[in-house]
Amino acid sequence: MAQLALEINGRQQTVDANPEMPLLWVLRDLLNMTGTKYGCGIGLCGACTVHIDSVATRSCQTPLATAAGKRIVTIEGLGANGLHPVQEAWIAEQVPQCGYCQSGQIMSAAALLAEKPHPSDSDIDEAMAGNLCRCATYFRIRNAIHRAAGKAHS
Ligand code: FES
Ligand code: FES
Repeated sequence: MAQLALEINGRQQTVDANPEMPLLWVLRDLLNMTGTKYGCGIGLCGACTVHIDSVATRSCQTPLATAAGKRIVTIEGLGANGLHPVQEAWIAEQVPQCGYCQSGQIMSAAALLAEKPHPSDSDIDEAMAGNLCRCATYFRIRNAIHRAAGKAHS
């Protein structure tokens, strides 16, 4: 066990945990932040995606020690002052079905738009390829990303 300092959604937090514990476990089990989902636990589905220093990252594959000292943003903090443009677009396009994959999808989409404000269909397909949706909402995801394009900055 070790005490590690984390910056999550702009707030400093200290956790007492095994430095090898996946960030996903830290978020969900130690900090009760359940917006980030546990899908596969082996880096294959994208449900656990968060931003670490603005990069979409699989939190199930990120040890606590790696995340410490970096800027972590989860779905709970994405829209710092209300909804993020990606979340607004998701609502407008009525993207979610069961919803399980959606926080990870939104985090990946927000990271894409921060890097490429006007992505093409192939940019979207490439950036979102690691985020699986068993309800197959892929077309609505793509429409929502186009809708949010040019409005998302973080
Ligand atoms: S839970 Fe992390 S990629 Fe599936
Ligand atoms: S909305 Fe059900 S898994 Fe994506």
